[in-house]
Amino acid sequence: MKALDGVRILDFTHVQSGPTCTQLLAWFGADVIKVERPGVGDATRKQLVDVPGADSLYFTMLNHNKRSITLNTKTKEGKEVLERLVKSCDVLVENFAPGALDRMGFGWERIQELNPRMIMASVKGFGPGKYEDCKVYENVAQCAGGSASTTGFLDGPPVVTGAQIGDSGTGLHLALGIVAALFQREKSGRGQKVLAPMQDGVLNLCRVKLRDQQRLAAGPLKEYSQYGEGIPFGEATPRAGNDSGGGQPGRILKCKGWESDPNAYTYFITQAAAWEKVCDVIGEPEWKTKPGYATPPERLDKLNEIFERIEQWTMTKTKFEVMDICNPLDIPVGPILSMKEIMEDEGLQATGTIVKVDHPERGAYYTVGCPIKMSDSPVEVERSPLLGEHTEEILRDVLGYTEEELQAVAGSGAIGDLPRAAE
Ligand SMILES: CC(C)(COP(=O)(O)OP(=O)(O)OC[C@H]1O[C@@H](n2cnc3c(N)ncnc32)[C@H](O)[C@@H]1OP(=O)(O)O)[C@@H](O)C(=O)NCCC(=O)NCCS
Repeated sequence: MKALDGVRILDFTHVQSGPTCTQLLAWFGADVIKVERPGVGDATRKQLVDVPGADSLYFTMLNHNKRSITLNTKTKEGKEVLERLVKSCDVLVENFAPGALDRMGFGWERIQELNPRMIMASVKGFGPGKYEDCKVYENVAQCAGGSASTTGFLDGPPVVTGAQIGDSGTGLHLALGIVAALFQREKSGRGQKVLAPMQDGVLNLCRVKLRDQQRLAAGPLKEYSQYGEGIPFGEATPRAGNDSGGGQPGRILKCKGWESDPNAYTYFITQAAAWEKVCDVIGEPEWKTKPGYATPPERLDKLNEIFERIEQWTMTKTKFEVMDICNPLDIPVGPILSMKEIMEDEGLQATGTIVKVDHPERGAYYTVGCPIKMSDSPVEVERSPLLGEHTEEILRDVLGYTEEELQAVAGSGAIGDLPRAAE
């Protein structure tokens, strides 16, 4: 048994944000039916292709454990199929451009008419307001949500992060909203609209930066390196380089091999509680009591000197040796792991966070499994569906189409060519 057994999702999502959400729901046990345009499908199937003729990793890694039906929802017959799907599903998830679902004839009012228990969940770039009609992609959301202005170094331009906080981050937010709405429906008997705007999702993840914005009114932000360097603060939360956000000084420091390995670095935090151990490890025991070094406030204007000294030590060790030495002493450090190292990590493979999946067109590939572990709802990662692989199966088994009806809808062109057979 799985947590969302019995929940059926009409998955109208594409690209990354929506598919992240529905993939999680599938991993929790929901039956996710992905509706795609005949002959075309989710655009990511053919984006960043590495194996000619096969679905891309972009697509396969975001659409595990789903079924695919091809359906042209702009034809009369396609709309009829969609209506039956709406009546048979619990949740409709979509991340079309604003207004697309209304133009298709399936706005919120129509959905409620067809199925008052339906939860209609959407990702949009912006919430209601002056930008609500904009199409939005990852980096636009990172910029509009406050992440870019607070990421990077003080003397450089704003920087976007590799973590897909706009797309995947918003998909996560939406999944939580859907599960909460399903829970509420148990009592109310009604569906509801769930909206996760990407700007809001990014801002939620940048919460501490809005905290700092307001702290500026009370004076400079002392934990930012620029304070110790005597650089005045402006009106807005500045970029903080690799400073740690929690008030404990931290930096990324070179480790042995940095000259040739771009990831031979460690994160190193000089947490107040571990200061004496840091001094011993780096061979500066007198800093424990030396005036100007002994307490955190005294050290603020010496952080560059202190981290340069720590780096002299970390450069004599690999990032893993730094971890091995510092961890038992409760000095917080973290190796900068490359994607190659993460993919090959035996621990992550053992927990199912890195998973090898077989695919009939592309062969075996690695993916990220479910990052949320539940003791009573196990996850088996299954390959993504081929385009339209389950069209016939869904029409017959979910919607109860008779042979005659099936032939009629197939003949209308609404479901495209006859479904592809999986190997
Ligand atoms: C991501 C995004 C920018 C892509 O834009 P896009 O490629 O132009 O795609 P759209 O969502 O506008 O959909 C294009 C059209 O395909 C149509 N379409 C989609 N599936 C269909 C189907 N099965 N049958 C018929 N038509 C279909 C839509 O109805 C829409 O038609 P319309 O423009 O006439 O209304 C846009 O969808 C968006 O802003 N989404 C919300 C924010 C978001 O999720 N962004 C991050 C994506 S990771």
